[in-house]
Amino acid sequence: MSARAHPTYALRPFLPADAPLLAEIFRASIAGLTGEDYDDAQRDAWASAADDEQAFAERFGRELTLVATVEGSPIGFLSMEGPDKIDLLYVHPAVAGQGVGAMLVDAIEKLTAARGAKTLTVDASETARPFFEKRGYVGRQRNTVMRGGEWLANTTMEKRLARADQ
Ligand SMILES: CC(C)(COP(=O)(O)OP(=O)(O)OC[C@H]1O[C@@H](n2cnc3c(N)ncnc32)[C@H](O)[C@@H]1OP(=O)(O)O)[C@@H](O)C(=O)NCCC(=O)NCCS
Repeated sequence: MSARAHPTYALRPFLPADAPLLAEIFRASIAGLTGEDYDDAQRDAWASAADDEQAFAERFGRELTLVATVEGSPIGFLSMEGPDKIDLLYVHPAVAGQGVGAMLVDAIEKLTAARGAKTLTVDASETARPFFEKRGYVGRQRNTVMRGGEWLANTTMEKRLARADQ
């Protein structure tokens, strides 16, 4: 089998030059992957978080952000909010279901545990909830949040992390 049929995914920290592509991945991921869970108005409102590209880029630079790449090009990303909460997790629809999201979450679990966090939390979208459940996250609370003038449902989920030295 050729390497192209099974591309090698890699991880690296966010670089400022990634910001426009990450905004594209964010929009494409919402457009391509969340249609069964949110209506068009909700998805447009959700994606509008990337309209102010400078503010969106600053969000990546402020916190720890990991970028998944194939042949050097970003295809997904995960950013943290503080030491123990996942803020953003988005995978491009062209590579969804190929383990990129799992790779990002596995890496951040190891990093946060190594930094002393006991748990990792996430406000998971309806689309991402089964993904996080599969990875051992437990729903703690249902939320309805206002995004760009629309109400969107999500679920605060939590996972107890294995100690880094175990
Ligand atoms: C949720 C998301 C990040 C998952 O990324 P992904 O790269 O497609 O996921 P993976 O391929 O790593 O999936 C890992 C496992 O979870 C499962 N899984 C992934 N998404 C799933 C879904 N929506 N429903 C059920 N299972 C799912 C996969 O089948 C896979 O199972 P396996 O290990 O048995 O093969 C991606 O679907 C996405 O970007 N969604 C839209 C944006 C979004 O909602 N972000 C979350 C904000 S909190």
